[in-house]
Amino acid sequence: MHSNKTGNQGRRKFLQTGISLGAMLPLMTNPFRLAANPLRDTNISLHPLRILILGGTSFLGPQQIAYALKRGHTVSTFTRGKTKPAVQKDIFDEVEQLIGDRENNLDALRGRTWDVVIDNSGNKLNWVKDAVALLKDNVDIYLYTSSTGVYYPYLGHDITEQTKPVLKVPEGITKVQFYEYDYGVMKANNENQVITGFGKDRTIIVRPTYMVGPGDKTDRFTYWPERLALGGEILVPGKADDPVQYIDVRDVAEWMIRLAENRKAGIYNVAGPASPTGMHAFIYGTHASFNSEAGFVMIPDYEFLTRHNILDAIPWIMPVGDNAGSALINIKHAVTNGLTFTPLATTVKDLHAWWNSNDVPEENRKKLLTGENSLMAREKAIIAEWKTRH
Ligand SMILES: NC(=O)c1ccc[n+]([C@@H]2O[C@H](COP(=O)([O-])OP(=O)(O)OC[C@H]3O[C@@H](n4cnc5c(N)ncnc54)[C@H](OP(=O)(O)O)[C@@H]3O)[C@@H](O)[C@H]2O)c1
Repeated sequence: MHSNKTGNQGRRKFLQTGISLGAMLPLMTNPFRLAANPLRDTNISLHPLRILILGGTSFLGPQQIAYALKRGHTVSTFTRGKTKPAVQKDIFDEVEQLIGDRENNLDALRGRTWDVVIDNSGNKLNWVKDAVALLKDNVDIYLYTSSTGVYYPYLGHDITEQTKPVLKVPEGITKVQFYEYDYGVMKANNENQVITGFGKDRTIIVRPTYMVGPGDKTDRFTYWPERLALGGEILVPGKADDPVQYIDVRDVAEWMIRLAENRKAGIYNVAGPASPTGMHAFIYGTHASFNSEAGFVMIPDYEFLTRHNILDAIPWIMPVGDNAGSALINIKHAVTNGLTFTPLATTVKDLHAWWNSNDVPEENRKKLLTGENSLMAREKAIIAEWKTRH
């Protein structure tokens, strides 16, 4: 079945002693650190793992690798060799970089054994099916990076891991709905393929909400630190208490490694902040990190916002219809199992520093605030109209 090193006996032993040396030492000397945060440490693990990351060179992967190496694990990545990391670039010398293509060439993975495979790039059904078939007898644990997208449409007010994902895209839906369903349905079916192949006790499924921080190439969340750092009169859509959720990519990455170390099979939602947060708290919190001269024009009127096609400004998503519960993801299970949260100020300052570094092309920076699709490019006119009505 699995490699000798990770057979049943070895696994049991691992469970009993799997807590890292770094976590044990402070227990003896400083009970407060353990009470507050039992698993967050960057010390060397007692049990070095051989980790294979499918993907690994984009956003989440480099942070997983940096933490895994610090903890004493060895890491192999499997990619086409096209995507170049824009963060943690200096650690890749220590990584075995396997080249292939999930579409049609998995040769580099054949005949090899690992303790854990982390599948970050499993965004097609046949990619995950083939990887599971090839690795199930050669790897102990399969950790699949899924998404809270499996819960679309987000209809509940407390979405736990027990909420059943939709497994088939329904007929007769809008283009926008199709895009949302398609991603969630793909992720949910891939989760099931992993569970079927590896079995529940060898599968870890992680479902993150929007991951943010250095290396985020999507520009979505980045709008806010950049807009708030710039200052001036700023349009803020949404009601004060409209819920927002997001998570620092490093929190997800590091916690995933600890889940693997501790062999925590199961399904986990991942979102932050630690306690419920509204849009205005997020805006004030982010602005406080930059302290620019700013005035806020809060626009809570959903009808007005819809007319101006402002339906989201991540982390804010208008909480109506299929998106009513998109930021009401229950994270108790993850927190109980060691998820920790970087303070918002650290996340937005680190993101701001990375965004304004040489790792981001100048044209991306220009597009974010002044491109034609940017909210900032439209906000003056919208604010003027809002003011004439109110
Ligand atoms: N970003 C978010 O907010 C968010 C939220 C929830 C869930 N997620 C999930 O998180 C995961 C990680 O996201 P990410 O942004 O870090 O990575 P990603 O962009 O999804 O993955 C890219 C990685 O896959 C490799 N890759 C792409 N095509 C390949 C192929 N045909 N064969 C082999 N490798 C291939 C790329 O390298 P090459 O191009 O060199 O091949 C790169 O290393 C994804 O599954 C995503 O769905 C993301």
